[in-house]
Amino acid sequence: MEAGLNQANPLNEKVIVALDVASSREALALAEALQGSGCWLKIGLELYAITGLNLIEEFKRMGYKLFLDLKLHDIPTTVERTLRVLCAAGVDMVDLHCAGGYEMMARAAEVCHQAGIKVIGVTVLTSLGEEDLRELGVQGSARAQVVNLAQLAKKAGLDGVVASAQEAAILRSSLGPDFLLVTPGIRPPGSEKNDQVRVVTPAEALRAGSSYLVVGRPVTRAADPRQALESLWRC
Ligand code: C5P
Repeated sequence: MEAGLNQANPLNEKVIVALDVASSREALALAEALQGSGCWLKIGLELYAITGLNLIEEFKRMGYKLFLDLKLHDIPTTVERTLRVLCAAGVDMVDLHCAGGYEMMARAAEVCHQAGIKVIGVTVLTSLGEEDLRELGVQGSARAQVVNLAQLAKKAGLDGVVASAQEAAILRSSLGPDFLLVTPGIRPPGSEKNDQVRVVTPAEALRAGSSYLVVGRPVTRAADPRQALESLWRC
């Protein structure tokens, strides 16, 4: 899995670097540092709150594929109308909460697919434990709820789900080879866990069936982000 530092590893195309930063300046500096590596960039709520859709054109000009991670959750018409705007902005993948229901997901899938954009669902937030789910009125295990929502997402036409890499194997076996599994909580061996509790290594995530690995701090907080990206595969 090794590649020289000046040579981009083809596996970088499976990495989505989470730009969880507090200014456009920092986001652009990271994009410049990672340009040409093949990785995707993820614009999440924090950066979106700061820059809106303003950086998208620049990131596209730099050759990036973009995941706009806003986790939409509203009535079907509002989600559909919002997605029409986001799809026109030039992103490659968006997401929404599966808990919005079948109709919301189906209409989202239709809009995104007309625009040639991937749409994936958030099943159960990994910050929620079994006890939290009881409080929310969910019977059964978190894992059962993840599989249940992922199956509904597939039926509604979504391209995949965001899930913990620890759930990737069971999702891969129940949802088939083509369903996208986008997995955060990735840490190279021996690196800081930060606030992630259940982490897996990049190689483990791929073995479990992940399609894309969402990686934030191990790359974005590194002194040399490009080197840190290439180092993901040195294990
Ligand atoms: O820095 P780190 O690698 O932990 O960043 C992970 C990214 O994945 C963050 O943008 C975080 O919001 C996102 N994420 C996550 N767990 C989820 C869903 C998304 O860590 N269940």
